[in-house]
Amino acid sequence: MRKNALSSLLVAGIAAAAFTTSTQAFAYGAGDFFTRVGVAKVEPKSDNSDLTLGGVDYDVKVDDDSAFAFTLGYRFTDKLGVELLAAEPFDHDFQVEGVTGGSVDHLPPTLTVQYYPLGGTDARVQPYAGIGVNYTMFSDEELEAGLPVEFDDSWGAAGQVGVDLLIDDNWALNAAAWYLDIDTDVTVNGDDVGEVEIDPVVVMAGVSYRF
Ligand code: NI
Repeated sequence: MRKNALSSLLVAGIAAAAFTTSTQAFAYGAGDFFTRVGVAKVEPKSDNSDLTLGGVDYDVKVDDDSAFAFTLGYRFTDKLGVELLAAEPFDHDFQVEGVTGGSVDHLPPTLTVQYYPLGGTDARVQPYAGIGVNYTMFSDEELEAGLPVEFDDSWGAAGQVGVDLLIDDNWALNAAAWYLDIDTDVTVNGDDVGEVEIDPVVVMAGVSYRF
């Protein structure tokens, strides 16, 4: 539902941007506060490593999930900024192959320092890239097998690319992607059973508002 609404919004925005004949330059740079709002999909890498249960290694597979996400940021200069990614919790199903399945929620707040190569110019297409740090909090861990399971919180590096397509002095269409290094130690029934590497790409599409 939200995705359909978002698609319509994006199409309308792209059409509006494409048919705007004005050559006016829009402010985009130093001193801007900004927020980006959209739907984000968290796609864990395909092989999420092994857990050892009863002396046997089992493959772990963590599924995708999508949720509402938003960011807050500030531009120190035309070309340098900082952005914090926030979201509602993502809820991932996972399988310990051949044994059991389960689910886990997480919140992955991510802070990046960003470079905007075309900041301060008249360009209406404004790409950016960033590096930073991710902290992921896990909650509501459940195993179908009924045993207590816990995923430890994780700190890791983060990378980011994105682009704003400027509509006016405040609004832009936005697409962004983050790579997050999320490795979590897993405990089942009080025993350390190994580390799950989620290491997802997070893809977000939506709108930017700057002020
Ligand atoms: Ni990793």
